[in-house]
Amino acid sequence: MLKSTLIRASEAGARIMQHYFQGEFKISNKEGINNLVTEADYASEKAIFEVIKNDYPDHFILSEEAGEIVTNSNYKWIIDPIDGTVNFAHGIPICCVSIALEQDGEMIMGVVYNPFINEFYFAQKGYGASLNDKKIRVSGETSVGSACLVTGFPYTYLDQPNGPLEVFSRLIRNGVPVRRLGSAAMDLCWVAAGRFDGFYEHKLQAWDSAAGFLIVEEAGGRVSDFTGKRYSPYQPHIVATNGKIHDELLNCVNGNV
Ligand code: IPD
Ligand code: CA
Ligand code: CA
Repeated sequence: MLKSTLIRASEAGARIMQHYFQGEFKISNKEGINNLVTEADYASEKAIFEVIKNDYPDHFILSEEAGEIVTNSNYKWIIDPIDGTVNFAHGIPICCVSIALEQDGEMIMGVVYNPFINEFYFAQKGYGASLNDKKIRVSGETSVGSACLVTGFPYTYLDQPNGPLEVFSRLIRNGVPVRRLGSAAMDLCWVAAGRFDGFYEHKLQAWDSAAGFLIVEEAGGRVSDFTGKRYSPYQPHIVATNGKIHDELLNCVNGNV
């Protein structure tokens, strides 16, 4: 039942995205520059909530636009109704619904669904990760020097030492291809699918990463903070890789190269 609720909730959000995509919708700004939220984000969130609240009215919810719906349940749904809103608002089909389910502080299931390129990623703790029902695995790349990486930039906080721009510049100057897609959930899934060898970002929120984190781990990858400690979605830093380039990428991110 939990799995069915998760899938139906993601489908409900994805239907809303498809409904609004490339059409007319209201866009407003949040904190930072060009940190957009659209009518579609709110509508997707509402559709996802309807499914979850109907099936599990007592469960805790953490969602980007609505914030927290606090209960004393040991189940928590962590929702990004549209990850990649700037892409969505420009008609760029790199955006998705991301929903994770946490039980007693551990991620047990996650979905990332991009209906525009028909990619449905699912993972369940201990059962592997899949793309459209086919098992996926991380890549076998062993060196950052020949890796293909992806990152994202926060809407604020760019210029610190070892901050987003400095790390990006260091890698690019060394000839490492680093892409910037604009959706952290897609970035993580593309690491899980072996398209990228690694991903790092300096400032994510739980709803950006919770589902993708489980999907990467279940695809055989490693996800940590910048010290190498197993990732928690409740702190900002993330490095997610195929495992083999993890320590080397951590060194690059921390400036120890
Ligand atoms: C954003 C995307 C982007 C990341 C930002 C996030 P949103 O989420 O995941 O890739 O770089 O930090 O805020 O605002 O499109 O849901
Ligand atoms: Ca997001
Ligand atoms: Ca969002």
